[in-house]
Amino acid sequence: MTQANYSSNSYPQPTTKRRVDSGGPDFYPTPRWATQALVDHESFKGTVWEPACGDGAMSEVLEENGLRVFSSDLHVRGFGKSGVDFLKYDTGVWPNIITNPPYNLAGEFVLRALKKSEKKVSLLLRLAFLEGAARQQNIFQKTPLARVWVFSERVTFYPKGEERASGGTTAYAWFVWEHGHVGSPEIKWISLGRKPGSRKGYKSPLGKKLTLSDLR
Ligand SMILES: C[S@@+](CC[C@H](N)C(=O)[O-])C[C@H]1O[C@@H](n2cnc3c(N)ncnc32)[C@H](O)[C@@H]1O
Repeated sequence: MTQANYSSNSYPQPTTKRRVDSGGPDFYPTPRWATQALVDHESFKGTVWEPACGDGAMSEVLEENGLRVFSSDLHVRGFGKSGVDFLKYDTGVWPNIITNPPYNLAGEFVLRALKKSEKKVSLLLRLAFLEGAARQQNIFQKTPLARVWVFSERVTFYPKGEERASGGTTAYAWFVWEHGHVGSPEIKWISLGRKPGSRKGYKSPLGKKLTLSDLR
């Protein structure tokens, strides 16, 4: 499948490689617990558009939490409406937009989502999305970023059905833009113990509890 829809040079690429994408360009279903963490920390009024829904991994968790969700994707994934290019297709304005966008179109998705929503935009992005001169100028200086929810336990992406407890190599966060928000964004942390298989009460490899000096 061609990757012609991707503007690969507009934003810096990740420094770590993901596993081979056997399901088409940039298709890694979001683990359920990562979506659940968003709805446990943020409230959403009105309907949601999930515009890069993949196989529905994120939409299903949103719906299970009582949200009404319209799901679409550029590719045929067997879920939602396919053939919908989020960057071009006009479905009007929705109350909320929530997704895990293709990482090399993240900046474009942010700007498009803000145009196509009236309440909140929540995107699961690499924490490193905060960096970069182009993003600083074109996104953060101009858009109402309200909160960044940093995952205390790393989100690990695997092909469908391979959710595992192993640690990830890339830090992710939920970035939440809120129309009408004024001022600096808040940084918050998603509570521990959400990732399947995660240990409650972190200990050092030697078995003793971590102290502040271990972290310096
Ligand atoms: C990282 S996957 C995320 C899938 C799903 N949101 C999830 O969290 O499990 C990104 C999805 O974006 C879709 N995609 C890529 N370019 C797109 C575009 N221009 N418009 C809509 N969807 C797109 C891909 O087909 C893929 O399913």
